[in-house]
Amino acid sequence: MVGDVTDKAACDAAAAKALQAYGRIDILVNNAGITQPVKTLDISGADYDRILDVSLRGTLHMSQAVLPAMRRQQSGSIVCISSVSAQRGGGIFGGPHYSAAKAGVLGLARAMAREFGIEGIRINCITPGLIETDITRGKLTPERKKDITDTIPLARTGRADDVAGACVFLASDLSAYCTGITLDVNGGMLIH
Ligand SMILES: NC(=O)c1ccc[n+]([C@@H]2O[C@H](COP(=O)([O-])OP(=O)(O)OC[C@H]3O[C@@H](n4cnc5c(N)ncnc54)[C@H](O)[C@@H]3O)[C@@H](O)[C@H]2O)c1
Repeated sequence: MVGDVTDKAACDAAAAKALQAYGRIDILVNNAGITQPVKTLDISGADYDRILDVSLRGTLHMSQAVLPAMRRQQSGSIVCISSVSAQRGGGIFGGPHYSAAKAGVLGLARAMAREFGIEGIRINCITPGLIETDITRGKLTPERKKDITDTIPLARTGRADDVAGACVFLASDLSAYCTGITLDVNGGMLIH
């Protein structure tokens, strides 16, 4: 199913279709996100809305769409993809509004974790570092990439699989006693 996470009705419709097909919803990964490499003084109102709407409002919409089913089940796991940008005030490509959106995701996820733990629903975040995906493709010259990897203890950029493994951990019972956590997947780019 394809849908726009900024559209609440589309999120509700996607959850309803999944429920119709499978009878339950065990896992939600809030992964949709867009970025924009601009500086503070250049952020327009429309830029701010666009970046925050996808990462932050989208996370709220999709969580609202699946939480009633998870409540009925008294179980479920929601994984929210934030960013190292939220923790260090900028990643590599995102502007300050991107950092703000991803920091908002951390706060929203933690608050939802506190609210829904009693119902057996766990909500956690992943903060990826620099992962080579469509969001980063074509934006890194070999020299720039070397400069960046020189600052990463594991001496390489991340792969989608690196984040996927963390998602599997948080989605499954391997992480049964984890809620409200922030799992860094950044090769050591930020150690705190
Ligand atoms: N790649 C990185 O270095 C990095 C680092 C930290 C965090 N992240 C985050 O990881 C997540 C995945 O990004 P990625 O690197 O795979 O980039 P990507 O561009 O490959 O994937 C982003 C996905 O979000 C979808 N999307 C965008 N707007 C949407 C909308 N309105 N509704 C529904 N879907 C929408 C896109 O179709 C795309 O599939 C994002 O939230 C991104 O901010 C990425």
